[in-house]
Amino acid sequence: MSSLQFEDRMSRILYPEDVIQRRVRELADQITTDYTQKGLAKDSKGRPLLLVGVLRGALVFMTDLARRFPIPVEYDLISVSSYGNGTAPGAVRLVKDLEKPIEGRDVLLVEDIIDTGYTIEYLRRSFTARNPASFRVCTLVDKVVRREAKTIIDYAGFALEVDEFIVGYGMDYAELYRNLPYVGILKPEYIG
Ligand code: PRP
Repeated sequence: MSSLQFEDRMSRILYPEDVIQRRVRELADQITTDYTQKGLAKDSKGRPLLLVGVLRGALVFMTDLARRFPIPVEYDLISVSSYGNGTAPGAVRLVKDLEKPIEGRDVLLVEDIIDTGYTIEYLRRSFTARNPASFRVCTLVDKVVRREAKTIIDYAGFALEVDEFIVGYGMDYAELYRNLPYVGILKPEYIG
């Protein structure tokens, strides 16, 4: 089934492909300017900015973002999972850790979406305990309407003020739709 056919399953295309790509370019430019001005484009040992993508949702966004940087960057990946019902709200578990230490590195964590904020706060605690030189967060979508944990987001592609179920550009429903080049609101009949 092609992504064109999947368009029938969307009640609305929220962020079309060209809008996303333009915003990704803007974010890469803004981040580059910020890090260069603050002298963080390279750390004290000359190592470049380290992007860390959170599997699996951030994969599409991170690979596009990484390719838009006019400065050298490295990247690594981490995987976490929310515990199911019956556990404390916001409990997060590490599934796959980073490949390398981040002590002394300038780290930019890349997410597809920040929802309640529990995942990013778990990761912030985990990362800052490893003594990076700096730690910032970049998300494609900041779903502000669902926030429960107090959190700081340094860079956001889009602020989503409505509580709609969105898919595409890395975001899934039951593992489908991640490879769509746009973000759309999934029709209720395709959920559940
Ligand atoms: C999504 C997203 C974030 C997290 C945000 O991941 O990629 O990691 O949820 O939610 P929170 O702010 O409420 O903690 P998900 O668990 O859906 O896994 P995925 O990345 O594999 O799609």
